[in-house]
Amino acid sequence: MNFYDSERMTDLLKPHGYQLDDNEDDADLIVLNTCHIREKAVEKTYSELGRIRDKIKTRKENTGKKSIIAVAGCVAQAQGEEIMKRSPWVDIVVGPQSYQNLPELIAKVDPVKKNKNINIDFPTIPKFDQLNTNIEERGTSAFLTIQEGCDKFCTFCVVPYTRGAEYSRPFTSIIEEAKKLIDVGVKEITLLGQNVNAWNSKGLDNKTWGLGKLIDELAKINGLKFIRYTTSHPLDMDIELIKSHRDNKKLMPYLHLPAQSGSDYVLKMMNRKHTANEYLKIIEKVRAYNPQIAISGDFIVGFPGETEKDHMLTLNLIEQVNYAQAYSFKYSKRPGTPGSVFLDHVNEDTKNSRLYEVQELLRSQQLLFNKKNVNSTMKILVLKKGKKKNQYLGRSPFNQSTYFSSKNDSLIGSIIDVRITEAFQNSLTGNIVSDF
Ligand code: 5AD
Ligand code: SF4
Repeated sequence: MNFYDSERMTDLLKPHGYQLDDNEDDADLIVLNTCHIREKAVEKTYSELGRIRDKIKTRKENTGKKSIIAVAGCVAQAQGEEIMKRSPWVDIVVGPQSYQNLPELIAKVDPVKKNKNINIDFPTIPKFDQLNTNIEERGTSAFLTIQEGCDKFCTFCVVPYTRGAEYSRPFTSIIEEAKKLIDVGVKEITLLGQNVNAWNSKGLDNKTWGLGKLIDELAKINGLKFIRYTTSHPLDMDIELIKSHRDNKKLMPYLHLPAQSGSDYVLKMMNRKHTANEYLKIIEKVRAYNPQIAISGDFIVGFPGETEKDHMLTLNLIEQVNYAQAYSFKYSKRPGTPGSVFLDHVNEDTKNSRLYEVQELLRSQQLLFNKKNVNSTMKILVLKKGKKKNQYLGRSPFNQSTYFSSKNDSLIGSIIDVRITEAFQNSLTGNIVSDF
C-alpha cells in the first residue's frame, strides 16, 4: 500500500515541477514514506532520517543548497510532533490520509524561518477524490487501492489508529482507475486494502456489492488479464468471493488469509473474532471451490500470554492448512494498542525459538508446494529482465517468482507458457513453451 501511495505522491507533485530522481544526493525534496506495523519500522525511520541528514541535508547546506525533508505514512501519523523533536531537520510530517495536501505543505516550507508543517488529519473528503489521476506509466503489473482503514481492532495492531476507519472507494472510481491503468499497458492489477475483502459499495444495479462482484466486473475489461487482491480477513471471506475463485478465470488462484495463531485462547486475546476451527473451515470451503488455490497467511508468535501449548496449536494449524507461502513475525508491542498493556510478556529467547519453529515448518511447506509445480506448464506474465544474460522474471498464477531465458528482447508485458523445470524455496525456473 505504501508503494501505491508513493506513486500517488509522485503523480501529485509532477504538476508542481518535481520528478523522480534515482540519485537522492541532489534531491530538492525527499519524502520518506513509512510503515508503523511493527517496532522495527519505527526504528528504521529514525535511523534513515539520521542518514538523510548526514548524507544529504547537511552536505547540501554546506554548499549553500537546500533540500526539503518530508516524512509521510503511518509513522508520521503515529509519531506526529515527536518526529520534529527527535529529528528537527525534518520539514514536513504528513499522515497517510492527508498526503493529497503535500504540494500545499511544501509551498509553506520556508527554509529561512525553518517553519514546520504537520498534517495528520483524517479529512472528511477521502483523499482518493482529490488525487491526480493522470496516469502515465505503470509497467506491466500495478497496484490499485480499493479499501483503506480497519474497524476490526485486533489488539496487537496499529492500523485502525494510523489508517483510520474502514473506507471503501466507490465502484465507479475503481473501474475508472483500472481502465486508465489498462490504457497505459498494465496487464495485471493487484487490488489493495488493509481489509480488502471487506470492500463494499453500490454496484451497477444500485445494490451493495462485495469484492467478488467487483472482481467479476473488473474482469470484463478486455486488456486486463490477471487480477489479484490482498489482504483479506477471514470474517469477510464471503461466498461470492469464494465462487469467483472457481468461476473467474482472470482471478489468480492465490489467497492471502492471515490466521495469526492456531490457539483459540490467543485468538480471543488478539480479538480476531474467529476460532482456529472456523479459520480451517473457511480454507476447506475455498479449496472445495478451487482445489488448486495457493493459500498464504500471516502469523505472530509470542503474543502476551502465549504458552507452549498455544504455540503447538499454531504449528498444528499450519500443518493442517499446508501453506504455499506465509509471513511470520515476533510480536512487537505497539504504543496505543490494547495489547501494549497486556502484562504476560513472552521472553525474547522463547519468541526467537518459536519463530524459528514456525518458519522452518512454513519453509518446508513452501518448498514442497513449489516442487509440486515442476513439469507443469504455467501462463506467466513477464515482469522484467533478470540479473543474468537473457534472463527474465515473471510471476506464476500462484504468485511465485519464475525465472526463464529467452533471446527475444521484447518479452516484458507478454503472457507466455513456461514449463517449470526446477523449484527452489522462493522461486521457480523453467523454459518457454511458446515464444512470441
Ligand atoms: N507485532 C507483530 N506482528 C504484527 N503484525 C501486525 N501487528 C503486529 C505486531 N504488533 C503482523 C500481522 C499482520 C501483518 C501485516 O503484520 O501478522 O497480519
Ligand atoms: Fe490490523 Fe488486519 Fe486486525 Fe485490522 S484486521 S486490526 S488491519 S490485523
